[in-house]
Amino acid sequence: MSNNNAQRTVTVRIQRFNPDTDKKPYMQDYQVEMKPGMTVLDALHEIKTHQDGTVTYRRSCRHAICGSCAMHINGRNTLACNTPLKNEVTHKNTVTIGPLPYLPVIKDMVVDRTTFWEEYLRVKPWLIPPDDIPEKEFRMSQDEVKALHDAETCIMCGACYSSCAVIGLNKKYIGPHALLKSFMRVLDPRDSSPAERLEEVSGADGVYRCHTIFNCIDACPKGLNPTQAIETLRKLAQKRQKLEEARRERQKHLNEPIPA
Ligand code: FES
Repeated sequence: MSNNNAQRTVTVRIQRFNPDTDKKPYMQDYQVEMKPGMTVLDALHEIKTHQDGTVTYRRSCRHAICGSCAMHINGRNTLACNTPLKNEVTHKNTVTIGPLPYLPVIKDMVVDRTTFWEEYLRVKPWLIPPDDIPEKEFRMSQDEVKALHDAETCIMCGACYSSCAVIGLNKKYIGPHALLKSFMRVLDPRDSSPAERLEEVSGADGVYRCHTIFNCIDACPKGLNPTQAIETLRKLAQKRQKLEEARRERQKHLNEPIPA
């Protein structure tokens, strides 16, 4: 009689690289007993705790919230903590794990995200409120909130950035993650700097550098659509003067109740 809960041993193949001691990356295999409900991150913990403490990766929340555990699993960027191990086991009984592509490797799956964060800060992803702040609260319509919702749920894991063909070509580029945040603030009726933001993303390394290959959409573990955001920014950049006037008008009424 078959036992559905029977445990099975799978090979977890990990790309190892320590720039201090290794000339180039190499693959190392570990055998892991696959338990029910196990994720790829659980398998890495199992290896690190019981087999090889030198295996190095980032992780924190284990709930697809912090974005630290983004890595390259069986040829695609995703989060290790919400990827079931059993879904990744190939017909050769193997799961292959490596670091996010196109970024310098610090060790094993840990990559240097300096440029990722620099571009993020460059677009000033925080709210720049108008001088005239309402006494109690900003009031936004449901449609205005809805327009920002997707961009707000981005967890900054880097999966989109490191799947982008432009980043792969080593070209200077703001990147889909930062352009998504810029899009969010440009559309935010509370923000007072849409024109400056559009100007920042309109340069040669901004929205016009996107090749519209959609890799970022495929890679996003949250199902977001940075390509569409970039396309919207492109259109708005061309109409920014008009937008600025409309924003000034809207901000005159932000402290008033939303009509039913
Ligand atoms: S550990 Fe936080 S997103 Fe995976």
